[in-house]
Amino acid sequence: MSLPSKIFLIAGLAGVLILPAARGQKPEVDAQGHRWWQHAVFYEIYPRSFADSNGDGIGDLDGITSKLDYLKALGVDAIWITPFFPSPQVDFGYDVSDYQAIDPMYGTMADFDKLSAESKKRNIRLILDFVVNHTSDRHKWFLDSKSSRTAEHRDWYIWRDGKSPGQPPNNWLSTFGLSAWKYDPSTKQYYYHYFYPEQPDLNWRNPAVEKAMFDTTRFWYKRGVSGFRLDAVDTMFEDPNLKDNPPAPGTDKFGRPNTVEKYNKKLPEIHLALQRLRKVADEYNAVLIGETWTSDVSQLREYYGAHNNELQLPMDLLLNGLPFSADAYRKHVAAVDSSGGWPVYVITNHDIVRSYTRYADGKHNDEIAKLMAAFYLTLRGTAIMYYGEELGMENNDPKSRDEVQDPVGKLSWPTDKGRDGERTPMQWTPGRNAGFTQAKPWLPVPPSAETHNVVTEEANPDSILSVYKKLLAMRHDEPALVEGDYRSVNNDDPNVFAYLRRFKNEALLVVLNFSNARQSVKFDLGAQGLASAKTRTALASGASRAGKDTITLEPFGFHIEKMTL
Ligand code: NOJ
Repeated sequence: MSLPSKIFLIAGLAGVLILPAARGQKPEVDAQGHRWWQHAVFYEIYPRSFADSNGDGIGDLDGITSKLDYLKALGVDAIWITPFFPSPQVDFGYDVSDYQAIDPMYGTMADFDKLSAESKKRNIRLILDFVVNHTSDRHKWFLDSKSSRTAEHRDWYIWRDGKSPGQPPNNWLSTFGLSAWKYDPSTKQYYYHYFYPEQPDLNWRNPAVEKAMFDTTRFWYKRGVSGFRLDAVDTMFEDPNLKDNPPAPGTDKFGRPNTVEKYNKKLPEIHLALQRLRKVADEYNAVLIGETWTSDVSQLREYYGAHNNELQLPMDLLLNGLPFSADAYRKHVAAVDSSGGWPVYVITNHDIVRSYTRYADGKHNDEIAKLMAAFYLTLRGTAIMYYGEELGMENNDPKSRDEVQDPVGKLSWPTDKGRDGERTPMQWTPGRNAGFTQAKPWLPVPPSAETHNVVTEEANPDSILSVYKKLLAMRHDEPALVEGDYRSVNNDDPNVFAYLRRFKNEALLVVLNFSNARQSVKFDLGAQGLASAKTRTALASGASRAGKDTITLEPFGFHIEKMTL
């Protein structure tokens, strides 16, 4: 029995709150007051690249359904699927033209219902991606909005006159290059787009927009969805007076002078809208995960909400830019852990170079991948994996501009090669196309797929995949990992990051060697009241105990010691 089920059973026997998760009823909490999304391990799936069931070189919903047993055996509790709604695919689904349907390239609504039912059978929850900031320029709302200045949906988007003939309304920049304004010659006004011109920003100041968008979440909740990952929340609102952003030193990757995005990002109004969206989510015991690009850990607090009434899980994406050192990680985790909400750890996603590639030193690549797994899967908080991380999938960047699929990669080539590299097909088997498709895959698999794939790694007890499976099993079985507090120890060690996860009379000591040299570390846990604890190694890779209080670690090795009082 998994830990949450055990807790609910015990809680139930003890007469503690235990209620089903249906609409209008109080949510399930365990004896520690934790909700399902605090216990769950989330797994992000980029549907174009997960599994192709119909041989067109592109992944689909039936492909995901066919792999649910793999996900269950891995230890995943919830899958977040990036957009599979109808879309012209300018931004590979993040340009939605209908929020309440399925793009035929991914299947049908019946396929979705089958995925939902099969997931439910396996106790895997579904999380969808909710693109709140913008729609596609092919969405019927925008087509109407563009049709005339007096159209019913005109004010659903942000239309303005130019500053002067030929001049956009202000100096705001699209994050994907060029101006953030596109001129429409037929109605002689500009519309605002923070991303591609094909992604016009919605006007969230219009209550009709809010209602339509909130209704979209209800539509999916009623179809069994357990929550949403909110895309680009930072940019939902803009200054109504459209003030120019102040200049900043330097130029960006497109060669444009930098500006401070003061008037089109992180406006206070976002929080009021999130509070209202959260009320809807609460009716369904659902979770809201945020794509929150904070520039400082303290900003996470704002997204949790003053009364924890906004996003339950704002992602800490700063972790992905940290220098690879014990000290940097120790300081960062301390800040996130004390940020006031339930922490969320992510080490890569479909917009960020894969962690395997980011941290590789050319010599200990697999060891580093295992170390990173032991790190983010043993912290206090929720972990969100990215498909293929568990295999040590690496980036496979385009070799020339002609090969690039991601438009931003074409615009910023060669400074930035775009995001194709981290979106390549899941590596299921050795051999042709890594078992992803019978056809030509939409992106090529790297040569390392020959060794880093599910079949090969399942046969090897020391593979990255085997380490992930053991760590995920521990997350479900060890109360200290789910419920325990977090306390770092040996804080002056420049090479080894170590911490305790303590719950009642048990603790796990996690010891991570962030250096490429062998380290021998001594622990004195008397001050933690653990001097007399019985100890045993719960999991280790490239590490062993050397005497009662000492652990020896090979370069990038990790050791997890279980202590029981
Ligand atoms: C963030 C998404 O993760 C990214 O892939 C997309 O391009 C932008 N938002 C725009 O929707």
